[in-house]
Amino acid sequence: MVEEDLIIRTANINDISQIMNLEIKSFDKGVRETEITYSNRLDVFKDGFLVLEHNNSNNSNNSNNINNNENKDEKNIIGFITSELWENVKENTEYCQKFNLNHNINKFHNDNGKELYISSIAISKNHQHKGYGNLLFNTLIDNMISKYNIKSIILIVSENWTNAIKLYTHNGFKEIYRINEFFNCNKGKFDGIIMKKELYSK
Ligand SMILES: CC(C)(COP(=O)(O)OP(=O)(O)OC[C@H]1O[C@@H](n2cnc3c(N)ncnc32)[C@H](O)[C@@H]1OP(=O)(O)O)[C@@H](O)C(=O)NCCC(=O)NCCS
Repeated sequence: MVEEDLIIRTANINDISQIMNLEIKSFDKGVRETEITYSNRLDVFKDGFLVLEHNNSNNSNNSNNINNNENKDEKNIIGFITSELWENVKENTEYCQKFNLNHNINKFHNDNGKELYISSIAISKNHQHKGYGNLLFNTLIDNMISKYNIKSIILIVSENWTNAIKLYTHNGFKEIYRINEFFNCNKGKFDGIIMKKELYSK
């Protein structure tokens, strides 16, 4: 169920510190991407970088202490999604380098690309399982379809990220390829599952 007081908007450079906090909390060391990677994504393809903002109206009743910012509206970023537009990926041969974590968006992004690559998505832990991931994911896809000439959507997910796999499967994505032990984090090594959805024009 999606609540009110939520805004989905394109990200800007002032959001980077909140985005990085969310990145650190969402991904283990080893599968985490850097601030430079996220800043480049903003520079190169701002349309493909959305944040989900929660307007936290903090007007609680215990207003004795006037120094603790009660009644102040706080806007917290509780989710983000990033993407690139690719020329169709040549199966197998290009998979490894194109999906590499922290790859430079400048190398592969092309505004005329027909394949939308969703490079990352995260929702803050205390806001998960409320439909926000699904909302953010589909808002990005709808925006991209309305503005660009997209024929397919592709992403990579670790075999142990079960919530993410559920989200993608529910939205019609199918596994097309696996890269053995692509993700290496403190829990171990996990296969990278490449999932794809073809978009058919009506
Ligand atoms: C993956 C992630 C973004 C999902 O966020 P979320 O807000 O919890 O997602 P949602 O609430 O929209 O979807 C999760 C639930 O809705 C279900 N769902 C999602 N889309 C659906 C749809 N279109 N139809 C039916 N059910 C759907 C899922 O099965 C899941 O069910 P559950 O909550 O009962 O287990 C979040 O778990 C996360 O940030 N994880 C850590 C980072 C990560 O793994 N990112 C993925 C990188 S590839």
